[in-house]
Amino acid sequence: MSPHNCPSLGNSRLPSQLITIDDCVSWADARLDQADVFFGHGCYNSRDEAIWATLHVAGLMDQEYDEIASTLISEQDYSKVRDLIERRIQTRQPLAYLIREAWFAGYRFYIDERAIVPRSHLGDLIQDGLEPWIDSTTLERALDLCCGSGCIAVALALTCPNLIVDASDLDASALEVARINIDRFQVENRVQVVQSDLFQNLPICKYDLIASNPPYIPSEELDKLPEEYLHEPTPAFAGGEDGLKFVRQILIRAADYLSDKGHLLIELGNNADALESAYPDFPFMWLTSRSEESVVVLLSKEELQHYEF
Ligand SMILES: C[S@@+](CC[C@H](N)C(=O)[O-])C[C@H]1O[C@@H](n2cnc3c(N)ncnc32)[C@H](O)[C@@H]1O
Repeated sequence: MSPHNCPSLGNSRLPSQLITIDDCVSWADARLDQADVFFGHGCYNSRDEAIWATLHVAGLMDQEYDEIASTLISEQDYSKVRDLIERRIQTRQPLAYLIREAWFAGYRFYIDERAIVPRSHLGDLIQDGLEPWIDSTTLERALDLCCGSGCIAVALALTCPNLIVDASDLDASALEVARINIDRFQVENRVQVVQSDLFQNLPICKYDLIASNPPYIPSEELDKLPEEYLHEPTPAFAGGEDGLKFVRQILIRAADYLSDKGHLLIELGNNADALESAYPDFPFMWLTSRSEESVVVLLSKEELQHYEF
């Protein structure tokens, strides 16, 4: 349905009881598209975000869209969706912050401006049980380094029912959000938060897996980020001049914190090429996820030990 023939677009006098979920989504889709907002905080296009906003308001997030598309939306919910979409456009806040909800690895996390919106490609890998790369049944202890909202730590704990996870971040505010998520998913007996500047305050122990989505945006690209990113904490992105400031430190130190059969998983996002350029003779193993982008690299303890990063 185009913005011009959608019955709900800009015409609140129409009887709202005749408006279906799909009409509402079409209106929101067209409005977001016209407004030229940035997508990338949980979905990649206007239609997916319109569906997310509508189903969130209608309390239907656990339903298959095709099954409820033709059901009617209440006047009150329709009005709420319109208000929400207008706020999204006016403020340029990511939808996740406006509705305090982010989907990651198939789970609904709490989120607010104290931590960046969960969207790491590690989520797809975790949802697939880390297969075929790592045998998750052998993991006993893991570290989510630079954990933010705790999404990776919690998703790992939910995927591996016996796993003990440390979730660490330098930012005390982000760790408050991580605690909310640990409570929400009732994994407080297996996931603990640690405030630490990278490895500095971490308990001395050997992890079977270190998973990290560290800050990796190069300095000169920070100013070019879409407006939506300005609502998120800058230290979550700032990766120094070439974006590898934290990645380099993690590569140098990770082996000391890994068990003999342990692995390091790091997300590099758009900065994957910079890592290849910095260490041209290292045979990095890039993992593809559902999105088919190769932005996560896997290294074994053995590889980390035998190379001078
Ligand atoms: C890209 S965000 C990732 C957050 C979360 N893991 C996720 O995927 O949504 C990077 C995180 O690194 C944290 N951070 C920045 N500098 C740090 C440091 N020196 N030590 C530990 N964490 C740091 C930020 O606070 C932020 O939460």
